[in-house]
Amino acid sequence: MSRILKNYFVAKTNQYNKIMKKQKVTAFVKELNVRMMKEPIALRYIHILGTVVFFSSVSSLVILLALYLNQRLQTSLFLVDDLSPNPLTSPPPHSSGSDMADEELMTRASMAPRGAVMNEAGPKVAFMFLTRWDLPLSPLWESFFQGHEGFYSIYIHTSPEFTGEPPESSVFYKKKIPSKTVEWGRSSMMDAERRLLSHALQEPSNARFVLLSETCIPLFNFTTVYAYLTRSTRSFLGSFDDPRPMGRGRYSPKMLPHVSLSDWRKGNQWFEISRRVAAGIVSDHRYYAVFKDHCRPPCYIDEHYLPTLVNKICPEMNSNRTVTWVDWSRGGSHPGRFVRKDIRVEFLDRIRFGSNCSYEGEVTNVCFLFARKFHVSTLEPLMKLAPYLYGI
Ligand SMILES: *[C@@H]1O[C@H](CO)[C@@H](O)[C@H](O)[C@H]1NC(C)=O
Ligand SMILES: *[C@@H]1O[C@H](CO)[C@@H](O)[C@H](O)[C@H]1NC(C)=O
Ligand SMILES: *[C@@H]1O[C@H](CO)[C@@H](O)[C@H](O)[C@H]1NC(C)=O
Repeated sequence: MSRILKNYFVAKTNQYNKIMKKQKVTAFVKELNVRMMKEPIALRYIHILGTVVFFSSVSSLVILLALYLNQRLQTSLFLVDDLSPNPLTSPPPHSSGSDMADEELMTRASMAPRGAVMNEAGPKVAFMFLTRWDLPLSPLWESFFQGHEGFYSIYIHTSPEFTGEPPESSVFYKKKIPSKTVEWGRSSMMDAERRLLSHALQEPSNARFVLLSETCIPLFNFTTVYAYLTRSTRSFLGSFDDPRPMGRGRYSPKMLPHVSLSDWRKGNQWFEISRRVAAGIVSDHRYYAVFKDHCRPPCYIDEHYLPTLVNKICPEMNSNRTVTWVDWSRGGSHPGRFVRKDIRVEFLDRIRFGSNCSYEGEVTNVCFLFARKFHVSTLEPLMKLAPYLYGI
């Protein structure tokens, strides 16, 4: 019996292979039927049994092979995983942090305490510089920070190709955070801002967070800026409803149901926020995903995501105005840039005292603490005016 079956198997396998090669499965089945009709009953049963056994062994073989391959694949995946650095215990890789490291960074930052933990000196202000390259106006900032150690922290996000490091005596020495390429107006810019916030949140004494560019200048001395920010119960994140095409016109109904047109806000990218708002921003994944998908140029995510997010999650914590002055009077999509000949006391004082706004429920004419965009050629005249501007 077993010999018959064995022979039968060999014959059937050969036959099967031959026929499969010709891709004539239907013909094979037909032939099998015809041949089985001609055979006596007993032989026909053996035939049927043989066919069943044959096909079930083939399928078992296929299943076993699949299981084996799956096992191999999983093992190799785990091996790769074991070899890669553990983001919890090893520092994020410098310059080219992976998305994994970014995720881990945000997660850690969103778990940081929401209220600032006071050191003996008092709360700190985190100055976060989002730059393309170096800081051309750094001498001005050096004199701004001079003598106020313990009241500020500095974080710099540059282009990853920039490897320059200021001298050890500089306040900017070793303040760069692991950075990635930023495309202006795209979500990679928001990623950089979130990266800066995540780093700054991990210092528990940081209570306020300012975002600055390399073209920003301080308009007052450190003492004034520090007091203005740390005494404010509200954040300074520009947020308004702009009915024009460059405002509401950039909204997409595809953002529904998460973001409606009445939630939609616009504002200056350069913000100053409290620790609670900063923690709210790095913890947000829901709205950020919606903006990444549906706010692409000509919708500029840096002008809409944070103003809209803060309007959604904590509107009562925002003053809705920025403390970073910029000149939009020239029109166009880029603000005015100032050069050496523009630097005069009257011009600077107009920015410093020329507007009215509300501060902690009172009207004040000190509405701006920083201004942009200042070309490197303004450094020399600004340094000359420093004693007047900063009382130093
Ligand atoms: C800022 O705007 C929000 C609405 O977006 C409002 O709830 C809040 O009271 C405003 N803040 C101030 C200080 O007016
Ligand atoms: C600011 O308010 C003061 C007094 O209330 C007023 O004299 C001045 O013209 C206002 N300035 C601006 C730019 O509105
Ligand atoms: C800072 O500027 C204010 C006026 O804005 C001035 O009263 C103060 O003396 C200055 N502080 C220092 C340390 O220069």
